[in-house]
Amino acid sequence: MRDIANTAEPEARVVAPALLAWYDRHARDLPWRVGPAARAAGQRPDPFRVWLSEVMLQQTTVATVRERFRRFLARWPDVHALAAAPEAEVMAEWAGLGYYARARNLIACARAVAAAGGRFPDSAKALRALPGIGAYTAAAIAAIAFDRAEAVVDGNVERVVARLFAETAPLPGVKKRLAECMGSLTPARRPGDFAQAMMDLGATICTPRNPRCDACPLAAACRANALGIAASLPARAPRKARPTRYGIAYIARRGDGALLLETRPARGLLGGMPGWPGTGWAEATPEPAPPLPAHWREVPGEVRHTFTHFHLRLRVAVAHVDAAAQPQRGSFRPGFDPAALPTLMRKAWELAEPALRASSGSGGDGCPPQTRPMARNTDP
Ligand code: ADE
Repeated sequence: MRDIANTAEPEARVVAPALLAWYDRHARDLPWRVGPAARAAGQRPDPFRVWLSEVMLQQTTVATVRERFRRFLARWPDVHALAAAPEAEVMAEWAGLGYYARARNLIACARAVAAAGGRFPDSAKALRALPGIGAYTAAAIAAIAFDRAEAVVDGNVERVVARLFAETAPLPGVKKRLAECMGSLTPARRPGDFAQAMMDLGATICTPRNPRCDACPLAAACRANALGIAASLPARAPRKARPTRYGIAYIARRGDGALLLETRPARGLLGGMPGWPGTGWAEATPEPAPPLPAHWREVPGEVRHTFTHFHLRLRVAVAHVDAAAQPQRGSFRPGFDPAALPTLMRKAWELAEPALRASSGSGGDGCPPQTRPMARNTDP
């Protein structure tokens, strides 16, 4: 292995032209992107699309966002359309993408931009002042939509930069240093293409495992490649183990098919989204807390779901209730489409639905088969 002292620090004058030449040939075709050829021909990206894509891409993969972006844009093609949309419809369209505060901020941001005339500000500083736009998103929009020379550092870029500079200190502590490195590489010409090229390189060549250094346009400038340590970077401080929490969700269906749902509090997990009433989620076994008296039956199995800070194991109880049922929490929603549920709640529905279907109109006791009574039932 060579010594890092014998390798030169990567420089913008070497890295930027090599990477942009690669991007000109290999840029990914993405629905929100103006590719390098169209960009060179004078086409400008639509800041609304750039903003929407960047918000969607936070914590969500390009593969998932592609289709969801198209659908979203077909419904709300510009900032005025989105600003005028009912909040519940936007939240329903966001269902399954997770991190629902993003969707609420998206609406707030669209309304702020529309109220100010409909144009997005063109500097990172002014963008940062809008709801839901943090340092990364502001830099990304300023660079991609307005060709501002901002250092755009997402997870892919962090990895590429850590390798280029052979930065062995662990994430997340080394984030600031990596952003400074990216700043030192970002060119005054084509900074938006440069940012997107770094993302594409990270996604296709400089991948987390088995980086394809032999196909990399920056191999000659890459310190980690020279040292033979690319695959081991970036280093990460050990993550704290996620605890497991437990809860129970209650799914009640009326004879007319209406389902008992509540809107989750605006702040907190799945905030503002529809969900099944249930217990809290705690590390101790939950005490049953049904939202109305009924013949509750527990469905075999459980839902497993992982949030950022904990794993959740959710038991699911189901009941058929009559038209006069008065819930203490939530309300019955006729014609509710489970596609509007966030992923956790949809998993609970998928567990419950066969049991509910099997038992409805059975003429028997109305008990879903293969279920068992809840430990502490609340039969009327
Ligand atoms: N990930 C985050 N933003 C992106 C973008 N604009 N293009 C490709 N991947 C991305």
